[in-house]
Amino acid sequence: MKFSFPDTLEKIQLHHHKKGRSFCYINPRKLRLFSLSSLGLGFFFILFILYHPNHIRDRTQQDLNPTKILIRPNNNDAGGNQEYCDLFKGRWIPDLNASLYTNRSCRTMPDSKNCGKYGRMDVDFLQWRWKPDGCDLLRFDPKTFLRIVHGKRLAFVGDSVARNQMESLLCLLSLEETPADIYKDSEDRSRTWYFPSYDFTLMVIWSKFMVVGEERVFNGSPSGAFDLHLDRIDNEWASKLPWLDYAIISDAHWFFRKNYLYEGGKLIGCVFCYEANITDYGLGFAVRRVFRTALQYINNCKDCKDLLVLLRTFSPAHFENGTWNSGGNCNRTSPLKEEETRLEGTEWELRSVQLEEVERARKEGEKRKKIGALDVTRAMLMRPDGHPGDHWNNKGMEGYNDCVHWCLPGPIDAWNDLLLAVLSRENSGSFLY
Ligand SMILES: *[C@@H]1O[C@H](CO)[C@@H](O)[C@H](O)[C@H]1NC(C)=O
Ligand SMILES: *[C@@H]1O[C@H](CO)[C@@H](O)[C@H](O)[C@H]1NC(C)=O
Ligand SMILES: *[C@@H]1O[C@H](CO)[C@@H](O)[C@H](O)[C@H]1NC(C)=O
Ligand SMILES: *[C@@H]1O[C@H](CO)[C@@H](O)[C@H](O)[C@H]1NC(C)=O
Ligand SMILES: *[C@@H]1O[C@H](CO)[C@@H](O)[C@H](O)[C@H]1NC(C)=O
Repeated sequence: MKFSFPDTLEKIQLHHHKKGRSFCYINPRKLRLFSLSSLGLGFFFILFILYHPNHIRDRTQQDLNPTKILIRPNNNDAGGNQEYCDLFKGRWIPDLNASLYTNRSCRTMPDSKNCGKYGRMDVDFLQWRWKPDGCDLLRFDPKTFLRIVHGKRLAFVGDSVARNQMESLLCLLSLEETPADIYKDSEDRSRTWYFPSYDFTLMVIWSKFMVVGEERVFNGSPSGAFDLHLDRIDNEWASKLPWLDYAIISDAHWFFRKNYLYEGGKLIGCVFCYEANITDYGLGFAVRRVFRTALQYINNCKDCKDLLVLLRTFSPAHFENGTWNSGGNCNRTSPLKEEETRLEGTEWELRSVQLEEVERARKEGEKRKKIGALDVTRAMLMRPDGHPGDHWNNKGMEGYNDCVHWCLPGPIDAWNDLLLAVLSRENSGSFLY
C-alpha cells in the first residue's frame, strides 16, 4: 500500500515580544509581511513549512519491536503515589532507550519534522525521559493506548503545534497498527486517521483561535490582522464535539499578532494594534476570554456524550541570539536543567491563564464534563534542543530556523506519554478534579 502525506503548507509568523517568544500564523500569500517587520509591533518571525509530498515507503516489516518497559517505582520519593502525583512537575533524566520509533519505522512522519532527514546528526536530545517528581511515567505503550481508546474518537484541536502532537502519536501508534488515512480537507489542515483493529479514530481539527477569527482584507489582499469574536465559538471544531470521546484543545500562537477583539459584535479593544483610540488588552486577556468561551461551550454542550477534554498548555518557542530574521537559532543539543529554566515571561503567563480557565470551568461545570490540563509548558521550557532549527525542508527559506515546532522523534513524544497517563487514570476511574 502506498499513500502520501503532504506536509502542511504553513507560514508562521513569530513575534518577539519582550522576553516572551512565540509565534502565530500568517496567510500563505503574504510573503511581503517579511518587510513589515517594523510595524511598531516589535519583531516578526516568519517560518515557512512548504508543501513537499512525501511518498511513504512500503513497510516490509516492523522496524521496531516495542517492548513494554515499566519504569521502576520511585521508592525514595516521599509521597511517591503513582495514581495522584503531579505528572507535570519534574525534570528530564537520561534514558538511552527513550526513543521508541525512528524516521524509518514511522511511515507517516511529515518531512517538516523529520530532522534526521534534513541533516540533524546529534542524538543526545533523543535520550531523555520526562520524570515527574512524585512518581514515574510509564513508557508509552501503543497497545495499552489503543486498548483504552478502543471504539473511541479523539481529536486534537488547534494550530500546527496541535498537529505536531498528533503526528507524534501517529508515529507511536503505528508501531502497533498501520492507520488508514481516511480524510483530509483541501488544504490538509484537518485530517483523520483510522485504526481498524481497534476501531479508533484519530483526528486533528484546525482551529487557530478556538473562536471565530476573520482576517481583515484590504483591497482584496489579506492584511495579516484578524477580527476575533471572543464570544463566538468556531464551529469547525464545536460542531464535531457531540461525536467525540476525547478532545485535546490548544492554541495561543496566533494571538501574537495584530488582532481586534469583539464582544457581542462590538469592537472592545485589540492586541498589538497600537492605535491611540483602541485599548490594547494584551495577549493574556485575549487568550483567557477565548478559552473561557471554549470551555463554557463544552460545559453547556447538551449533545455531547461522556466527553473528556484536556487543555494542552502553551508550547514555548526557543529563538536564541537573535530573531527569526537576524540569525536567531535553537541549536542546543541537550536540555536545560530545572534551575536554568525561568518560569516567567509571556509563555508562563499564558500557561497560568490557561490553567486558571480550566479551574474555573471545572467549578462551573459541576463535574458534568471531565475537563483537565495537559500542562506541558514547564517541561518544554527546558527543551530548547528539541526544535528542528535549520534541519527542516527550508527550500527558499535558507537561513531561517524553526524554533517553534518539535522534531520527530523528540521531546514532544513525552506529551503522549503524559496523555496516556491521564487517559489511564481516567480509564481506571480516578480522573482528578
Ligand atoms: C535498551 O533496550 C535494549 C533492547 O530492548 C536493552 O537491551 C538495553 O539494555 C536497554 N538499555 C537501557 C540503558 O535501558
Ligand atoms: C533518517 O534520519 C537519518 C539521520 O538520523 C538520516 O540519515 C536518514 O536519511 C533519514 N531517513 C529517512 C527515510 O528520512
Ligand atoms: C480610530 O481612529 C482611526 C483614525 O485615527 C479611525 O480610522 C478609526 O475608525 C478609529 N477607531 C475607532 C474604534 O474609533
Ligand atoms: C548565544 O550566544 C552566546 C554568547 O555569544 C553563546 O554562549 C551561546 O552558545 C549562543 N547560543 C546559541 C544557541 O547559539
Ligand atoms: C549555533 O549556531 C550559531 C550560528 O548559527 C553558531 O555560531 C554556534 O556555534 C552554533 N552552536 C552550536 C553549539 O552548534
